[in-house]
Order: sequence, then C-alpha cells, then structure tokens
Amino acid sequence: MEMEQLVALCKRRGFLFQSSEVYGGLQGFWDYGPMGVELKRNVREAWWRDMVTSHNELDVPPGAPSAFEMTGLDCAIIMHPQVWKCSGHYDLFHDYMVDCRESKRRYRYDQVCGRWVTCKSHRIFVASEVGGKEAEELTQHKAMKFFDLRAKDAAALDWDGPLVSLSTVRDFSQTLGPDAKTLGTLTEPREFNLMFKTIAGALGGEEDTVFLRPETAQGIFVNFKNVCDSTRVKIPFGIAQIGKSFRNEITPRNFTFRSREFEQMEIEFFCRPETSPQWYQYWRGRRYQWYLDLGLSRERLRLRDHEKEELSHYSCGTADIEYAFPFLASGEFGELEGVAHRGDFDLRSHMEGKLVRQDGQLVVELDGEGKPRYRGSGKDLSYLDEVTKERFIPHVIEPSAGADRATLAFLCEAYCEDEAPDEHGKPTRRVVLKFHPRLAPIKAAVFPLVKKDGMPEVAREIYAALKPHLTVFYDEKSAVGRRYRRQDEIGTPFCITVDGQTLQDGTVTVRDRDTLRQWRIPKGECLAELRSRLAM
Ligand code: GAP
Repeated sequence: MEMEQLVALCKRRGFLFQSSEVYGGLQGFWDYGPMGVELKRNVREAWWRDMVTSHNELDVPPGAPSAFEMTGLDCAIIMHPQVWKCSGHYDLFHDYMVDCRESKRRYRYDQVCGRWVTCKSHRIFVASEVGGKEAEELTQHKAMKFFDLRAKDAAALDWDGPLVSLSTVRDFSQTLGPDAKTLGTLTEPREFNLMFKTIAGALGGEEDTVFLRPETAQGIFVNFKNVCDSTRVKIPFGIAQIGKSFRNEITPRNFTFRSREFEQMEIEFFCRPETSPQWYQYWRGRRYQWYLDLGLSRERLRLRDHEKEELSHYSCGTADIEYAFPFLASGEFGELEGVAHRGDFDLRSHMEGKLVRQDGQLVVELDGEGKPRYRGSGKDLSYLDEVTKERFIPHVIEPSAGADRATLAFLCEAYCEDEAPDEHGKPTRRVVLKFHPRLAPIKAAVFPLVKKDGMPEVAREIYAALKPHLTVFYDEKSAVGRRYRRQDEIGTPFCITVDGQTLQDGTVTVRDRDTLRQWRIPKGECLAELRSRLAM
C-alpha cells in the first residue's frame, strides 16, 4: 500500500483532516473526523481497559514476577515550571536544527543525510531530508542538475560511499542543502528546545512563563505521594495516564507520526529496586503482545533493545516497540512505544533537584556557587514498606505509547485491497479496512435492501434495538452493493440487511466484512449474534 492511498482514504471517509485546512492547514496539527474520533477512542479505551480497569490485582499475570495493582490519573497539561527544570526537559529536551539561507527552510540536523560525489574536479556533499531509497534517487537527481549533466552523462558522477548523516560533515561550505541550488547555504547546527511556551496570568512577565507538557509522565511522578496517601496501593503498582502532549517538532512529518500536538498513553510502574529488571522484562513483553493482540502483524512489528549509547542519561535499559510504517524505506521501522527502565531518576529529581550522571552515579547538578542548579520540591517521595518497615525510593518502569502513532499503525495494517462482487455481482476492486473488531469505529451497519415494502421500518427497529449497546450505522441510500463498499472502507465488521425474506420469516442477512460470507439469523437475535462475533 502506498501512503498516499491511505491518506486519501482517511480524508474521503472522515478519519483525519489537516487542522485548520480551510486556512491552508497548520503543519504538525491534525483533526480526527467522525470515523477517526471513534477509532482513536477505541484505541485509548482498549489500552485503558487492558492496562487499568480490567486488570485483576489478585492474580499473577503470565510472565509477571508477582501480582500488582494498577490505577489512573488525569493531570493538568500546564504544570509548575520547576517540574521541567528538575526533570531535565528545560535544559536537555532539544533537537539540533540547521537553517537554509537559500530556501529559508529549517531541518532537523539528525534527519538530514546525503552522499559525497565528485564531478568536474569538485567534491560536494548532496544533502537530502528523507532517508532510504528515495534519498538515493533525490541526491542523484540533484547532483545531475548541479553539475548540469544529462541522463546519458550520469557515469560522470563519482559517488563516494553510501548515504551518511550530515553530522559527519565538518565543512558546510561544500554542502548542497536539501532544497538549495547553491553550495554552503546551510547554517551551523543550533539547539532548539521542543517545549511550547505560554504565559499563565495577566502580568505576562518572564516569571509567568509556563510550558505545555511534552510528556504526561511528570504529572504521575509529582503525584506519586498523593496516590500512595489517598489510595491503598502497595508496591508494586502502576499509575496510568492518557493525555495530550505537545512538542514543537522542527520537522513534523509522515502524516500524524510526528505531530506537534499528540496524545500519549503512559504507565509509570513503581517497584522495589531489586525486582526492577524482572518488571522491565515483563512490561517489554506485555506491551509488545498488546499490539499483536489488536491485529498488528509479527512481520511488521519488532521489539528493539537500545544500544548503550542510545540510552537516556538516566536509563538502565530501554526497548522500543517499532512498526514498519509504509512511509519508511523497506527494512526501516518507526517507534510506536518506548519501554524504559528509569531507575529512581524521576522521584529523586523531584525530591533533590535536577540530577546528572557523574562517574556512573546520579548526583544533583550544582551551579557555580556549589548550590543545586535547580532545587527539587524538598518533599519526601520515598516509600515505606509497612510490612518490612523499609523505606526506599522505588524504581520505575515506563511503558510510554503514542495514541496517534498506534492509531496510525492500526490504520496502515488494516488497509487492504481485494476483489468483491459489486451491486451487479461482478467482481471489482474493493478497498477495505480490516480492523480488529474492538477498534472498528462502527461495529455494524443496518440496511433495508430497498426503500419500500416495509423494509425500512424493520431495519430501523433493529437499528434502534442495537444502538444503546453498540456503535451502529443506518443507511438506506443508494444500491446495497455501494452501501457495503462504504462500510468496507471504514472497516465495519458486519452488515445486517433486511430483505424480502425478512418480511416472510423474520430473518435477516448478516455479512462478514473480511470473508464476504452471508448467513441468516432471526431478526431478534442481532445483538446476541454481534456480541458473540465481536467478542464484546
Ligand atoms: N515519557 C517518555 C516519553 O515521552 P518518548 O519516546 O519521547 O518518551 C513516547 O515518547 C511515545 O510518544 C513515542 O513512542 C511516540 O509513540 C509518542 N510520540 C512522541 N513524540 C511524538 C510526536 N511528535 N508525534 C506523535 N507521537 C509522538
């Protein structure tokens, strides 16, 4: 499947629209349409139900070191600015960017790659903003233009090795920027903090500056004590949160994959330090399996452990759950979720102040006068084990997923083209979204075969009976074959049709979206039939 086909379907069928489209759109922001809002809500609800509400704290789940509890929070998007100073986001949450003086475009330094080429005794670096095969073709095309060559002269280009990152280039004067025609128009890389700033209060001074949260996690850490004191949770336990996060990404791209406003589904799981490696392994596997259970294929989903150099300064281990999105080059994967062992970094930072790693130890960062660079809350965020009377700072395992990336992966996986009989019974090309039934925006559609002979009345009765229990859709417009196709394109697992036979024997036809099989059931059994088939 080409990404353009999915993007077009998402617009045509009301899954996703560019935000503020009537004004030309705003890069990095997206609106979910009538189908998209249901799909994403189902993703969020599946996660919340599977991770929180249906979790049984009395049993040991397969692979877990012990039984555990799960609870939830819904924190404010804007938090005290000190939160971001102690968490490290104020100083460290940045990307490097380069600007092009010619095209006036801005690029993320780590995302620009290119190839060295020599021609007409000139060695230059041809940069591209995309990776993979597309970048190879682009650099070839740009080099031909730069050296004023025709297709038959392509052999005059002497390529010097494969694509490499721009960060390997020391002298930018020999670099041809991704959208530039002249050499040396890229600036030196500069730091760019990704947090959105705003003002809280009427005065609007520097001290009123606050930030939109770039992750939901910090709301959980600063409420750790509140949760312990207001509930009876005992370690090990997890606190889950779903909510919006904001990052001023330099180059938002690939549909919703990298947006500036997005939703996260995060768990901070608190445990004893000595059991944390087992919990890390447990959550790694459990979260990977969640995506498989909801329909992502094993061939397109992988669990990748970070190399030591890739780990954040606080992390003792991180694994990414990655999906082979169709906009990536073959063999490339994009991150869906990170599962990180964060040690006691976060709770300690909010107690003591911003931590840095020194000689392998996490210590409070000091300013020139030997005082903490950013003071912590000074509150005791340790945990008292009431049985052993031990006090300790729990270690944290963090499975951190993106609701929009998960939704996008489920959309990509669901997209299928096959053949099905049209309204005249002739096999024709069909686009179908084969969503897992839990995720499908509409669970069933109800149609009268024709708009006469009392069929609409019966169909409306069935629709009204189903509506309080399931998301169902009623449609009596156009030929029934067309109505089936419309439902296939939004991924409705079942269609129920009232026809001539219904009026005689009270049975209706049920059609399966994937197999196209049709069978009859008594009209009063529609809810039970759907419930058993949808496993809901
Ligand atoms: N608390 C840890 C944390 O925020 P992260 O890897 O930066 O870790 C977690 O983000 C998840 O949030 C990612 O795996 C991804 O699914 C999602 N995410 C991060 N940045 C995003 C963006 N710009 N657009 C959409 N989703 C994003």
